[in-house]
Amino acid sequence: MIEQHPCNGPEATFEAGRMLAEILRAGDVIGLMGDLGAGKTLLTQGIAAGLGVPESVRVTSPTFSLINEYAGGRLPMVHVDLYRIEAEAELEHIGLEEMLDNAGVSSVEWCERFPVLPDDHLIVRIEIAGETQRTLSATGNGPRSTEVAAKWAALLGATLR
Ligand SMILES: Nc1ncnc2c1ncn2[C@@H]1O[C@H](COP(=O)(O)OP(=O)(O)O)[C@@H](O)[C@H]1O
Ligand SMILES: [Mg+2]
Repeated sequence: MIEQHPCNGPEATFEAGRMLAEILRAGDVIGLMGDLGAGKTLLTQGIAAGLGVPESVRVTSPTFSLINEYAGGRLPMVHVDLYRIEAEAELEHIGLEEMLDNAGVSSVEWCERFPVLPDDHLIVRIEIAGETQRTLSATGNGPRSTEVAAKWAALLGATLR
């Protein structure tokens, strides 16, 4: 459980994602919450970078494409953005739940819009605290994501020293 960890500048948010990647295993799902421009995509890019996904594969934002798959890293990664989804039927059509089941690591922006996450998932909330200030909170829901949150907290704490 991480409560309002400061990320002062985009690099800090990216770096937090990079550290989270060190902990992740196949099957881990991360739900991202926060306003437009909070840094959900940037954090995801940090995760992808931490997994070793080549930069050429990482795209800026999936807001216009619902799903991006990032190959070439330690684990495959699926990056989903539910912002533009209007009906749950669209998700069934796409087969999103199966995709999350089969993916290596998944990150889901606007995850609160539809109940697509598996029982055990990490929720990360990014709040805008200033032009380049963000605060990051994370909660595990289930044993695995609780372990991830604790390990991530330790890594983030270590960078503060
Ligand atoms: N501390 C920070 N953490 C994350 N992003 C930041 C920060 N400070 C400024 N920014 C800017 O905010 C924007 C975040 O964009 P993005 O990651 O696409 O947000 P979201 O996916 O939540 O809509 C980027 O333009 C980034 O440069
Ligand atoms: Mg985004």
